[in-house]
Amino acid sequence: MEEKLLAAKQMLEKYGQEHLLKFYDKLTDEKKNELLNTILTTDFKQMQELYESTKIKPQFDNAKVEPIDHTTKEELSKEELEKYTSIGEEVIKKGKLAVVTMAGGQGTRLGHNGPKGTYDLGLESHKSIFEILCDTIKEASQKYDAIIPWYIMTSDANNKDTIEFFEKNEYFGYPKSAFSFFIQGKLPMIDTNGKILLDEDGMMKQAADGHGGIFEAMRKNGVLYDMKEKGIEWVYIGGVDNVLAKMVDPVLTGLAISQNSLMAGKSLVKANPEEKVGVFCIKDGRPNVIEYTEISKELAEMTDEKGELIYGESHILCNEFNIAALEKISQNKLPYHVAFKKANYLGPEGKVIVPTEPNAFKFEAFIFDAFSTVDKMTILRVKREEEFAPVKNAEGVDSPETARALYKAYHHIN
Ligand code: UTP
Repeated sequence: MEEKLLAAKQMLEKYGQEHLLKFYDKLTDEKKNELLNTILTTDFKQMQELYESTKIKPQFDNAKVEPIDHTTKEELSKEELEKYTSIGEEVIKKGKLAVVTMAGGQGTRLGHNGPKGTYDLGLESHKSIFEILCDTIKEASQKYDAIIPWYIMTSDANNKDTIEFFEKNEYFGYPKSAFSFFIQGKLPMIDTNGKILLDEDGMMKQAADGHGGIFEAMRKNGVLYDMKEKGIEWVYIGGVDNVLAKMVDPVLTGLAISQNSLMAGKSLVKANPEEKVGVFCIKDGRPNVIEYTEISKELAEMTDEKGELIYGESHILCNEFNIAALEKISQNKLPYHVAFKKANYLGPEGKVIVPTEPNAFKFEAFIFDAFSTVDKMTILRVKREEEFAPVKNAEGVDSPETARALYKAYHHIN
């Protein structure tokens, strides 16, 4: 280990991060080895660049933003609906569609002790979010007489608990062989001076690298190869926390194929100009999402001749990608966005510090930064009450209470 320790020390000195070894001697041999491995595989140059990026205010004003075309599902004629449905069904029946659920988030707002998918929604059946999602896949699998592979992205922090939960529940009756779990990447958290934080256990403090980390994680974990071997052509990628997510929707796939698109996304009408959601748009000539923090009041309030918001197609993290698009995206790195968060850490005296104010930068990639890889994207506007019941906060809006009510209304449960 001496050689390793020496190499780690040199690396840390070069980047001014020597404090990471301050409590090294107090660690067990196993933990010592783990810390050295983490140090030697960390890209400190990238961390330095990320720190520098925290000092620059993001510039959005230069980008040219235009509205994006969309198709409203409800307004499709009977013939159109039948056509898209049958094209999409063909894909599903031939086993060429897979589902990926992104379940690597921390779920801090919900505050549930465990992975968000294990949360009991409070129905009489006591179904967890994972079981509710599994129901949708099982139902589609029966309807189309096909096994739909289900890939679940976890993070280092929740991978074990997630797999154990599925094991304990016998995969909710869906074939175990249809499941694959893979772990997303992570990045160190840094303080306002660019110093990487030490975690409570003396290791480097790291956090999942955002839902945009999915593409790199799929490549690094061999998920893309696995999909190709299975003959998968279309991949639905969605969050774990929408209990009305229609993860297997032939209309979305069929419409994308008909429009010759390699990517498709579902949208909902933005409730009002102030609603805190990102909206699909065309940015510098390519599909993208403009965040509610980025959009000007003027753009947010613009309406068309029918009085509808021009930038009103909310992005709900229900997207579909052709495998060719996924391969292209996963070859490049997505940009990281910075968030300022509260994070416990081991202070210089070796005591755990629990901050009351945000103290650390966290870096995350966003899935929608990948949209600009293609020159067009199919947008299908669906109905909120049919496809969107998010579980984000412990109480109030987008909470288990609101999601439960929406779920019950949709499924006609009293
Ligand atoms: P959110 O951005 O809502 O984050 O994730 P979250 O972790 O669920 O909740 P908060 O913000 O900590 O309260 C949207 C979706 O993206 C996934 C989440 O699991 C959720 O399904 N996600 C997010 C990841 O898979 N990895 C990440 O690093 C971040």
